[in-house]
Amino acid sequence: PVVGIPLPHESAALHVTGEALYTDDLVGRTAGALHAWPVQAPHAHAMVTGLRPEPAYDVPGVVRVLTAADVPGVNDAGVKHDEPLFPTEVMFHGHAVCWVLGETQEAARLGAAAVEVDYEPLPSLVTVPEAIAAESFQGARPHLERGDVTGALDDAAHVFEGEFEFAGQEHFYLETHVSLALVDEAGQVLVHSSTQHPSETQEIVAHVLGLPSHAVTVQCLRMGGAFGGKEMQPHGYAAIAALGATLTGRPVRLRLNRTQDMTMSGKRHGFHSTWRVGFDADGLLVALEATLTADGGWSLDLSEPVLARALCHIDNAYWVPNVRVDGRIARTHKTSQTAFRGFGGPQGMLVMEDLLGRCAPLLGIDPIELRRRNFYRSHHTTPYGQPVRHADRLEACWDQVAESGEVARRRTEIAEFNRQNPHSKRGLAMTPVKFGISFNLTAFNQAGALVHVYKDGSVLINHGGTEMGQGLHTKMLQVAATTLGVPLERVRLAPTRTDKVPNTSATAASSGADLNGAAIKNACEQIRERLAQVAGGRLGISPNDVRFEAGTVRGISVASGSISWDELVNTAYHQRVQLWAAGFYRTEGLHWDAASMRGEPFKYFAYGVAAAEVEVSGFTGAYTLRRVDIVHDVGDSLSPLIDIGQIEGGFVQGAGWLTLEDLRWDASDGPTRGRLATQAASTYKLPSFSEMPEVFRVTLLEKAHEEGAVYGSKAVGEPPLMLAFSVREALREAAAAFGPAGTSVELASPATPEAVFWAIERARTPA
Ligand code: MTE
Ligand code: MOS
Repeated sequence: PVVGIPLPHESAALHVTGEALYTDDLVGRTAGALHAWPVQAPHAHAMVTGLRPEPAYDVPGVVRVLTAADVPGVNDAGVKHDEPLFPTEVMFHGHAVCWVLGETQEAARLGAAAVEVDYEPLPSLVTVPEAIAAESFQGARPHLERGDVTGALDDAAHVFEGEFEFAGQEHFYLETHVSLALVDEAGQVLVHSSTQHPSETQEIVAHVLGLPSHAVTVQCLRMGGAFGGKEMQPHGYAAIAALGATLTGRPVRLRLNRTQDMTMSGKRHGFHSTWRVGFDADGLLVALEATLTADGGWSLDLSEPVLARALCHIDNAYWVPNVRVDGRIARTHKTSQTAFRGFGGPQGMLVMEDLLGRCAPLLGIDPIELRRRNFYRSHHTTPYGQPVRHADRLEACWDQVAESGEVARRRTEIAEFNRQNPHSKRGLAMTPVKFGISFNLTAFNQAGALVHVYKDGSVLINHGGTEMGQGLHTKMLQVAATTLGVPLERVRLAPTRTDKVPNTSATAASSGADLNGAAIKNACEQIRERLAQVAGGRLGISPNDVRFEAGTVRGISVASGSISWDELVNTAYHQRVQLWAAGFYRTEGLHWDAASMRGEPFKYFAYGVAAAEVEVSGFTGAYTLRRVDIVHDVGDSLSPLIDIGQIEGGFVQGAGWLTLEDLRWDASDGPTRGRLATQAASTYKLPSFSEMPEVFRVTLLEKAHEEGAVYGSKAVGEPPLMLAFSVREALREAAAAFGPAGTSVELASPATPEAVFWAIERARTPA
């Protein structure tokens, strides 16, 4: 079978030669496109009391200024109807109040600068503590509870409490937000958009334009990275481009530059948390009580499901019999925070991993031992009531990392190194990941596909998923080739389009391959069954005995002969057999009650374990990541090179979030209050080659077949990001080594060199 073969990404050669086409490359192939530029407000919160577009029209090349008056449908870009596309109330510094279309980008830019806007500044809330103090919350306030937390905390041998606020993360996809909209003679709108969710982009464009969905088609060729940032955020930009195109009759291109993208689009939610935790005399968790406050920014966007996932992942890999977690979403005058790889899961898990790291020294238990001791076993259920199937894989991954990473020997060496070196210290930490796969909202767990077999035997597949670099299309080609029994070269994949496969879910929650793979498999099986009838007739055998493999169709017994795939397809055509099929899949067995936070929302859990070793300088807090060992469970891998790439990339992105990337908003009372200070790569430090671990060993867990998932595989896109907790915990260990034995270290997140330095200072001088 073609699944399981290590193949490079289907577009790898195009990526590295620069030939791969992205949405903005289509502009050069589109005659007469206009360019859009936003007028961004310079206040965190203000009323727009006057807007005069007229001066923009004096700028040569300005074609049109788009304002609220131009919207034929609904002036809203969100699914929650709380995101006016053209706002009268500025809700964050950089909020676009109107857009200018020009013959060139430069004309549009100068036009935007000429638009006159009057603002009446209003008081603003920039930080989460400010929002909490003002009780500025939005959306649902989920509550997750099991057992008797109060009683268990009363009886616990050890009780600790703490507070922890940690930062969000900029997606920093290489390709910023971009849309190109075209209108044909019948008023049909086609939007090329860099979107993870073409169907929802289509819906929002349709309702802004006041059109039915069938009048709007959205295509996504591929994205230059998305990471959750293009799940809901592209819709408004697509709507602006589409509105411009319908009003002018010309193609409109909207592409944000980096600073616009960073100041306008949503990011990972930072969180504030308070917690109280109880352990028994053996260090087993008995109770956890926590309040999580997500920094939602100015509108809801995906904050509610992100928060729900945070609550559902606060347990991470650990059995906690009594749990009570409250969640709320702060409304602040910032960009509207959104999905980001892990979708709240990382934030929930960070609270747990942070408190374990802080409590281990207080309990006098080695953190590696403390974590292992508290693992889920297969008979346990999560706080929301889902059995933790295959929990033994946690231990399998853990033990394999410990062994192949020679953790015990290296820790002895690290202890010796630390004894000898007063000014630099090393630390090694191991952390696990358990991550639920499926959308919490059951309805999203469906997918469609359209598979065409042409008369010459070549195959074209369409499916509802989008390609953002994660290798979904590569896997889908492998699934189709395997199911039809044809060589990979016979299968081609067409860009994702809403007029091919409708009503799709976002390519998100890591479920792209699970859902679309199963839909493609379903379509291919329908075609294969019809062809088996034809082949059975040709070969004089029962259709049940027909086998499809590598482009040849034969009976089970060699004696029955064979026929080539191409010949069979041609024969079938002449017999008037339908050679294409629509496939469909829905994940069975899921249920979720969002109100009570109970159910079995996940098809299965993905597991993984990482060990990370760091060395920290006592003078500066600067550190190097010396070695990382990972064992991760991807089931039977559909495409091992793709999966390893996802694990490496996810891990490094997680390490960036936790140790480097530092979003700073101006919280002063000055005129620039609310302004994002880190607007570019110059001030926002991303991981690069120099931050890669010196030794990086990634292994896929073996014998990990996942029954009921497509070809036994498991999702891989998000879970590995959370393996990076090991880096943060290793930094904590190294910082602690500067203090007396048993020092409990509080570490900020991101644990930048500066933050690590202060942690070291506190360790050196315990209170
Ligand atoms: N990998 C690359 N290279 N680029 C991306 O944008 N997005 C991540 C992950 N891996 C992303 C990526 C996120 S947030 C998700 S949900 C999954 O890919 C989505 O794709 P999948 O469902 O096919 O795994
Ligand atoms: Mo991923 S955050 O679910 O797009």
